[in-house]
Formats: sequence, structure tokens, C-alpha cells
Amino acid sequence: MKIIQASNYEEMSKAAYKSLHQFMQMNQHPVLGLATGSTPEGLYRLMIDACKKGEVSFASTETFNLDEYAGLSKDDKNSYRYYMNHKLFDHIDIRPERAHILDGEAADLELECREYDQKIMEVGGIGLQLLGIGLNGHIGFNEPGTSFDAATHISELAETTRKANSRFFNSLDEVPTKAMSMGISKIMESREILLLVSGEGKAEALHTLLTGEITENFPASILKNHPNVTIIADQAAIGGKKFPDQVG
Ligand code: F6R
Repeated sequence: MKIIQASNYEEMSKAAYKSLHQFMQMNQHPVLGLATGSTPEGLYRLMIDACKKGEVSFASTETFNLDEYAGLSKDDKNSYRYYMNHKLFDHIDIRPERAHILDGEAADLELECREYDQKIMEVGGIGLQLLGIGLNGHIGFNEPGTSFDAATHISELAETTRKANSRFFNSLDEVPTKAMSMGISKIMESREILLLVSGEGKAEALHTLLTGEITENFPASILKNHPNVTIIADQAAIGGKKFPDQVG
């Protein structure tokens, strides 16, 4: 894993945009895996600016988001569909039918997961997968204990995740207990992975990722087995520690 150390959140976002832009230039029909949460918001703002200035076009891009809460409608302010539309898709030239997100209101969630994997396969898999990391090492909503072999699936959210995400809801009670998540095996099939880590709250998770063993109890640890992962972390997340430029 290559590690890029950025001075702050803005610099982390700029470095992420640079990698994404390079990927876009090298692929005529780019397939992006996208994340929600606080971490990629700066990157999404840069993508919007660049698209508005004509520096990049997403017209032939296909995107697949990592996850969605079960039971939330696409119009619910806390659904990831709502987040993506408002923070990215509505402001760039992507074709709406190419911006895929699991449907939290699907009548059959299991089927929804299987069809999602099928769609990813039909477009030839994900080229560049963007990831954030949870306090407990989750990637997507693959919580500790999830099999590394899991395909896209229904996930029981860990209490740490529900508490961390309750900042977006009126109360902890409103945070769904279930979600759907792209599985770890699918994430690992991406040709390139970009993991963004920001803020002192993530320092412990980053340290565990870089120094700990590969275990299903810390899902992000599997990334050490992927041949093309870049971590872009800001100084707050690095927390004054010395990490080599390459791990694993
Ligand atoms: C979101 C996702 C999650 C987040 C993680 C970090 O789609 O898949 O794994 O990346 O929970 O969230 P933030 O960025 O809010 O700290």
C-alpha cells in the first residue's frame, strides 16, 4: 500500500482529485466505486468545480456506491442516494442511469444485492474504488466479523457505526440498524483503490491498519493483500507518527 501524507483535509482532497483525474484520463469508460460520509465531500466539491470548468467530464462514467441504509427512501435526507445526488450527481454531467446505488426500499433486499453485483460485472468491474474507513475498521458497511469472501449483502450495523453516523440524524434511535453493502470480495476485485483518511478521530484506525495483522475483525486490513491501494491521509489522522511511504 502506497501512503501519501497530506498536510490537511484540503490537501488530502486535492491529492485524491489528482489520482481520480489521472484515472479518468486513462479510461474512456471509467467505472468508479464511490463512498459517502464526511471524508469524500472535499473531493466531490473538486470534481464539481472541475466539471463546471470543463476540465473533466463524467458523461461516459459509470458509478457504483458502496452502500445504502435499508428502509430509507431516496428522498430521505439521510439516504445515501440523497447524499450523492445533492453532493455530486446533480452538479456534474453524469447520466443519471449510470449512477448506481443500492435501493434501500427494494422489496427483496437480497435480490437487490445480487443484481447489484451482476451490474458491476456487466460493466467489467470497478476501475477505481474510493473508500473511507470507519472507527472500527469497516469499509463500506462491512463491519468487523464480516467474511472477506462476502459478496454484496445485508449488513447489521455495529453500535460504533450507528453512534458515529447519528451525527446526521435527529437521534441515535433514528439510525437504521441494517444496511446493504458492497462485499469485501467485490471491493477487492477493483483494479485500483483509494482510501482517504482524515482527522484525529481516525488516527487509531489508521495506525491499526498500518501496523496490525490481517483479520476479519478489522475489515480494512484486507487491503494489504490488494496490489494497487493508495492511502491518502492528513496529518491529523497520521497523528505525528512516522509511517513508511509503502506498507505491505
Ligand atoms: C460510506 C462508507 C463508510 C464510510 C466510513 C467513514 O459510504 O462506506 O465506510 O466511508 O464510515 O465515514 P466518514 O467519512 O463519515 O468518517
